[in-house]
Amino acid sequence: MKLIQITDLHVASEGEFTHGVDVRQNFLDILQAVKSFAPDHLIITGDLAYDTANEEVYRWMKSHLDQLEIPYTAIAGNHDTSTVLAKVFDWEHRLSGEELFYKYTAGDQPLLLLETSLGTVSAAQLAWLTEELAALGGPALVFMHHPPIVGGVAFMDANYPLRNMEALQEVLHGHPYPVYVFCGHYHVEKMICSKNMTVHITPTTYFQMKWNQPVFELDNLRIALREIVLRDDGAVESTVVYYEGNKT
Ligand SMILES: [Fe+2]
Repeated sequence: MKLIQITDLHVASEGEFTHGVDVRQNFLDILQAVKSFAPDHLIITGDLAYDTANEEVYRWMKSHLDQLEIPYTAIAGNHDTSTVLAKVFDWEHRLSGEELFYKYTAGDQPLLLLETSLGTVSAAQLAWLTEELAALGGPALVFMHHPPIVGGVAFMDANYPLRNMEALQEVLHGHPYPVYVFCGHYHVEKMICSKNMTVHITPTTYFQMKWNQPVFELDNLRIALREIVLRDDGAVESTVVYYEGNKT
């Protein structure tokens, strides 16, 4: 089973100023790269929108994603609105109130997709996650926008972390099997291991930032995807692949 994760696409309206990055061409280029991997599923972990949810932008993205003919799904980031995303992509049946968290079945592999668009994980979602993990009875694959742990990215940890990460960690650390988390939001490539949990932070298709600076500092304009291979023996393989980004 091969999955591709892409994250933090930040696609803007046509002509919108995006700090010199051609975010729309980056999106089109990364879709071509995704296609070349012929994955079984594509998972988008939030921040589809440049700044705020935009139906027109989401529709444009959907039309290109549909053309890929690869099953795909997405969750919202802090720059999206889950209800708008669900409406445009026909995922309203997956909403719990205004939250878009759900189990997505890739072949026979369940993936747990979390909702953190408001920067927290709700009590209702934690209860749902606890039940879903118990039902798994084995290793868990979790996709979310925010890292569920201090990322070691000084600027992001200080300003835009998942605010109740301890509550989520309690649930994930309580799972008696490995938990593999794939997230984004921090605009870096990182892996953090904590007890049974391995957190993979995936770089974006917008820009990457320096991880060791207390103030925001751009690192580079390369764009990336993450290939995730779920081997038959249960091993989980993960590779980040970079491409040239586009400037306006
Ligand atoms: Fe974000």
